[in-house]
Order: sequence, then structure tokens, then C-alpha cells
Amino acid sequence: MCLQITGGTRLVGTVPVSGSKNGALALMAAAMLPAGESVLRGVPRIADIEILRSLMAAVGVASEWTDRHTLVIAGGRLEEGPPPTELARKMRASYYLMGPLLGRLGRARVGLPGGCSIGARPIDLHFRAFEALGARTGIEAGEAWAEAVRLRGADMTLVGPFGSSVGATINALLAACVTPGVSRIFGAAQEPEVWAVAAFLNRAGARIAGAGTATVEVEGVSRLHPVTYDVPGDRIEAGTCLLAGAATGGDVRVEGIAPWTLDGLPRLLTKMGCACAVESGAVRVMAPDRLRAVEAVTGPFPALATDIQPVLVAALCRAAGDSLVEERVFDGRFGYTRELERLGAQIRVAGGTTALISGVPALSGAPMAGTDLRATAALIVGALAAEGESTVEGLHFLDRGYEGLETKLAGLGARVRRTGSPVPVQL
Ligand code: EPZ
Repeated sequence: MCLQITGGTRLVGTVPVSGSKNGALALMAAAMLPAGESVLRGVPRIADIEILRSLMAAVGVASEWTDRHTLVIAGGRLEEGPPPTELARKMRASYYLMGPLLGRLGRARVGLPGGCSIGARPIDLHFRAFEALGARTGIEAGEAWAEAVRLRGADMTLVGPFGSSVGATINALLAACVTPGVSRIFGAAQEPEVWAVAAFLNRAGARIAGAGTATVEVEGVSRLHPVTYDVPGDRIEAGTCLLAGAATGGDVRVEGIAPWTLDGLPRLLTKMGCACAVESGAVRVMAPDRLRAVEAVTGPFPALATDIQPVLVAALCRAAGDSLVEERVFDGRFGYTRELERLGAQIRVAGGTTALISGVPALSGAPMAGTDLRATAALIVGALAAEGESTVEGLHFLDRGYEGLETKLAGLGARVRRTGSPVPVQL
């Protein structure tokens, strides 16, 4: 299965973004805590969501689609599991089972998470949070475990060599919100997903203050009640579509996105020579025929999101001048640049963390293969900007995180077609 793309067409029009993948995954874990049926609306239909549903079912939390994007989750009755290790290894977000299990049962055991191959992905900060709350933790036979005789609220600082951790902050919230006493998380991640989880939990009766800032205070409560919550729009999908518009000299408006969640992307697009219009719930980019080169650095929110870095690099391949993109969150996230070079892009990666992109006036279509989720999206954007035919393989990566991306791009005028039989999601 691959995408066949005939590039060189300006993308024009409006595209609705799906609910956030990373937001929905964390919210599903949060919905394990309240006793009863919580409802998440706007959940994207992608492979990662199905994998997490299966993992949750293995620890007693059933879920059911009541329409295409509404998921009802029967929380509160957690069982020890453990879920099959093979399943846990299929995605990074499997670590989200640990916070609710530890908070509710005092013990958790989950196969070590897998996920995209983009550099080191330890879970020491998750363990640091659980240990601060009074648990012992360890890794044994491919499983991460945490166990406590009695949990109690505590102070913790969750900063690693690359800064704050989204997953560890959310896991800390999930465990601490049902742990007696007051916990304070210093160095908390400020990503919109953290804010969304705290908003969900507070609506369910939790007492969390400061989410979205570097210090979050949590007063544990024993009971949470089920709630209905709308998953926010996917900021990375929105960024992908905006950059696809920019890369093709197009005029693209994304809707269903809170502009504040896009970090500095509209500002960066302006530096790249685009005009950007920020509306409530929508952002529009109007691009020149050739973008200007820029310098950009990824980092924890509100810096430029690491997940948008590959797509940004793809868009800069045809810019006028030399661009410099520095990756400061993951230490192995430039592997895809070799594939972009097949289009004629000139990219030099130094020290694994910096890419120098010497813009070329034109790219020409080529066969390429994605190596992870955002890398595959980047190759698609590169192919759209290139003249002629490209093929992009690696759609099982793409389908983990984007719902119908090629259909959305086709709606903007892209000439893109999926060929071959779909690979079923292996659960
Ligand atoms: C989340 O991963 C996202 N995944 C990632 O999106 C995203 O790239 C990342 O946050 C950063 O924004 C999900 O939400 C499921 P981190 P997460 O813990 O939580 C280091 C995508 O494409 N670290 O914030 O796993 C880590 O190595 C995916 O959608 C530790 O040192 O990322 C990294 O350098 C890819 N110890 C940095 O922190 C830890 O215990 C940030 O990672 C945990 C992380």
C-alpha cells in the first residue's frame, strides 16, 4: 500500500482538522478514573486509538463507539491486568495505563511502551513521579511496574535532559488526582494535552490548579464522576496542512483548531514569507510561490513542536536560501531527510540534532518510504511540493496518527491516491 502523488499543484481551500491524537489518548486514560461512563467527542479514528482501547479493555475498562467520533468509556472498575506485552509495545501511550492503575489499585504492570523510533524514549521521569507518591518502581521481563503500600501526595520535579515530559506530567496527574494529600509538580510540561487532561479531570471532580504552567498543584480526591468532553483539534495535523499549503505556494485555511495550540507556527510561517490570518478556531496561510529560508528550534511548548519539525523541513526544501532547523526534544529525529533527498532536496544533518537545508528552486518526484508517523507526513508534503510523480510508502505509520490525511489534502486540490490493499490494524 502506498500513496501516489502528482506534485506541483497549489493547495487551496479549507480543511477541517480531526480531534487531537495525543490529546485523545491522554483523555482516554483519564476517563479510566471516574466510576461510570464518560463520553469523549471528536476522537480521531486512527490505529493508535484502537490499540489503546484494547489495552484499556485488558485492565477492565471497556469502550464503545456510539458514532464515528464519539467514544463512551466505562471507567472506574480497574483490574490489574497486565495487558499483553505485545500490545503495549505497539505504542508509546501504553504508559498512560500506569497512572490510573497505580492511583486506583496501588499497583501497575504494563509492557514497556514502543512507539515511533525518533531517539531515546526512557520512562525514568514517569517512575520519578510514581516514586515521589510513595511507590517502588522497576522494569522486569519487558514490563514496567510500580507498586505502593500507601500513596500520598508529594512534591516532585519532572525535568529531564531535554526539558519537561508531556507523558510523565500527565501520568503524574492521573495518579496524583486520586491520591490523598497535596502534590505539586515542578517543571511540568505545558503542552495543550496537559491542559486538556486537567480540564477533563476537574470537570469530573478533581482539584488541579496551574495546568498549562510549569507548576501544577493537585489535591487528591477519592471520587470522580463521569463527564462528557470534546477532544481539542489536532495541532500537529493543523500544522501539517498549513505547511503543505505553504510548501505548494497555496492558500489553505484549517478550521477546528485553537490557534494558541499552534505554538509559534503562524509567526514562523510569516517569517517564511507567508501571510497568516488567525481567526477564532481557524488559521489561514497564504504562501508566495517560493518560501523564504528561516531558522527554527523545536522545544517543549510553547516552543515549536518537535512533531512538526519533519514537516517543516520538507516545506523548506524548496525555500530560497539556507534554513537551519534544530531539534531539541528527541535525539534521532532526522532519519527521514535521506528520503527527502530522493526528491533532489539538499539537507545536511550535523550531530543528529541540526539540519541545514539548502533550498533548491525545484524538486522532482521520486519513490520514498516513511520511517515513522511524522516522517511519513513530511514525505507527503515533500512530494506535494515536487514536480511529477512520487510514491510514499509507510502508510501504516501514517494511519497510526492521521485520520484520512490524503482525503483532506485531495479536498484542497492535491492529486493524491492510495493504492494497494489496506493493511489491517494488528491488535
Ligand atoms: C509525547 O511523547 C507525544 N506522544 C509525542 O508525539 C511528542 O513528540 C512528545 O510528547 C513531545 O511533545 C504522545 O503524546 C503519545 P516526552 P512523550 O515525555 O510524552 C525525554 C507523535 O508523533 N524523557 O514529552 O513520550 C524524552 O526522551 C509523537 O505524535 C525522558 O528523558 O514525550 C524526550 O527527549 C511522537 N524521560 C523528552 O523527554 C522520561 O521519562 C520529551 O519527551 C520521559 C521523557
